[in-house]
Amino acid sequence: MDLFAGCGGITLGIAQAAHSLGHGLDIALAVDFAEEATSAYRRNFPEARAVVTAPVESHFDGDVGAQLTLTEHRTARDVGKIHVLVGGPPCQGHSNLNNHTRRVDSKNALYLRMIRAAEVLNPEVVLIENVPAVLRDRHDGRGVVERARDSLTALDYQVADQVVPLERLGVAQTRRRHILLATRKDVVSPETIFDTLENASSHHDLRWAIGDLVGIVSDDPRDRAPQPRADNIARMQWLLDNDEYDLPNEQRPVCHQGTHSYKSMYGRLRWDRPAQTITSGFGSIGQGRFMHPDLPRALTAHEAARIQGFPDYFDFSSCTTRSALATMIGNAVPPQLGTAVLSALFHAGAFGSMESVQPTSALA
Ligand SMILES: C[S@@+](CC[C@H](N)C(=O)[O-])C[C@H]1O[C@@H](n2cnc3c(N)ncnc32)[C@H](O)[C@@H]1O
Repeated sequence: MDLFAGCGGITLGIAQAAHSLGHGLDIALAVDFAEEATSAYRRNFPEARAVVTAPVESHFDGDVGAQLTLTEHRTARDVGKIHVLVGGPPCQGHSNLNNHTRRVDSKNALYLRMIRAAEVLNPEVVLIENVPAVLRDRHDGRGVVERARDSLTALDYQVADQVVPLERLGVAQTRRRHILLATRKDVVSPETIFDTLENASSHHDLRWAIGDLVGIVSDDPRDRAPQPRADNIARMQWLLDNDEYDLPNEQRPVCHQGTHSYKSMYGRLRWDRPAQTITSGFGSIGQGRFMHPDLPRALTAHEAARIQGFPDYFDFSSCTTRSALATMIGNAVPPQLGTAVLSALFHAGAFGSMESVQPTSALA
């Protein structure tokens, strides 16, 4: 089950892990309240039993520790046995990049909907992905992660959490993510899984991810080059002409001059390093280090999706506007995360003997 599922980055990773061991994936339920997200999810995982466009709270509406509500009884009955519950609650509320709403957004409470879902469904494994800053989030006076840990422990789970540099898992990006992992006591411990992730060293640079897309001829909207403003074209040309990667102060807009901590803004990417964290702003150099290493433009959606770890066959065509596509890609969880965690669980024998399920169509 995938809650706050987006286009299904975590699901894709899990499907890849299952597929590499000859299994398919039985998706009991995916929930997201954005129509664009569920449309993309349905396209890529048509065999999912249910993909619902609704708030997660409409499936899990009771308090942690309280008796199940009628809705929750119905959800549990409809989905049946769940092995793995995953979710990436929205992070805009507490992203470091969002200074205005940081740590006071009611979205933080959504993190705890994952715990309620675990209580209702009793899965063997719970995986919650978020930005590292979630560790500073509070809800009703206590940290949300601390609350989640305590509640899952009280539900008899083994619980561990860590900030994982996804670069180590083969993502061509310096993205770091907070992962909370809970497993039933008869299943491998979460620490064992984190040890496996810590020992992973599958680093990739930008050239590996997008080098082959330079000069691609395509009428796919994903390959459409962003159209920079004239002043930003001049800035990018300056970087290319001077073989520089950071824009000096005098080349920046006046409001961005002086002492600032945004060195990466208006920056140029390097081929031989991973990219910076991809956000929905990847199409504008004013939003971060998103300038192409060789060309006076920011990244295309195709390049951003590749850096996020999405294979070319992943279908984003349900996103009909440029901004919807950028949001979908920027919000996504790199599939390598789900692959690494689930592969480690499979290899540790977490699920015993599993029934065989037809391979997932996104991978067929
Ligand atoms: C960080 S993205 C999830 C990315 C996704 N897990 C993946 O693997 O690619 C968060 C998602 O939560 C959805 N969302 C936010 N609040 C929600 C709510 N209350 N109920 C359902 N979905 C919600 C957003 O539409 C967004 O798609």
